[in-house]
Amino acid sequence: MKTRYWTWLGWPLGAAPLAWLVLEAASGQLGPDPAEVFVERLGWWALVLLLTCLTMRPAAQLLRVPGLVVWRRTFGVWAFGYVSLHFLAWATLLLGWDPNYLGEELGKRPYIIVGLLGWLAMWPLAATSTRKARRRMGARWAKLHRLVFPAVILGVVHQSWVQKSGYGETLIFALVLAMLLIYRGLKDHRLSNK
Ligand code: HEM
Repeated sequence: MKTRYWTWLGWPLGAAPLAWLVLEAASGQLGPDPAEVFVERLGWWALVLLLTCLTMRPAAQLLRVPGLVVWRRTFGVWAFGYVSLHFLAWATLLLGWDPNYLGEELGKRPYIIVGLLGWLAMWPLAATSTRKARRRMGARWAKLHRLVFPAVILGVVHQSWVQKSGYGETLIFALVLAMLLIYRGLKDHRLSNK
């Protein structure tokens, strides 16, 4: 099959968890507090997709399967989509867009500020995610896209703060993140020695 078709498969793959979640919500399967579960699941998928997108290049190089990188951009864009929906669902379903409540939440729960900073860091990435922007920006594109690291670090810190079912999941996220950072560090070191 041509690479082009594989690339496009990333879009429905990224949409599948959202479709599943909406179906679960519509059929009343999200438990006694569906709004909270809905918000949490969107955040969870955002982080998983962001980490998956970052893992693709190292995995392609280490496993010598270059084709793995084809979903990097799609999963990155989906991660931004899930975070944005996570924010919208939180502001709509949990806060009802009440500005007083919003101020109170920001003061009471600093993890929300951490999440908001992570989301803000992803905006320039999403805005320059097209092939055209990449071509136009040249070397500046790669520099700007390093913002993905603060974004994912903030995402993992945010998750560790809000998790309710023990630190097992946080440990897995943190381990994947640590491996990605070490890999990136080694690659930069090698490039600077060339
Ligand atoms: C846009 C700003 C953000 C807001 C307002 C926000 C808000 C929230 C809230 C209210 C929760 C649920 C906490 C609870 O149930 O007590 C949550 C959980 C979570 N958020 Fe965010 N968040 C934001 C950004 C992010 C970002 C950037 C990521 C990752 C890329 C993320 C990933 C998560 C994860 C993984 C969870 C936990 C899900 C679980 O335990 O199942 N959030 N967030």
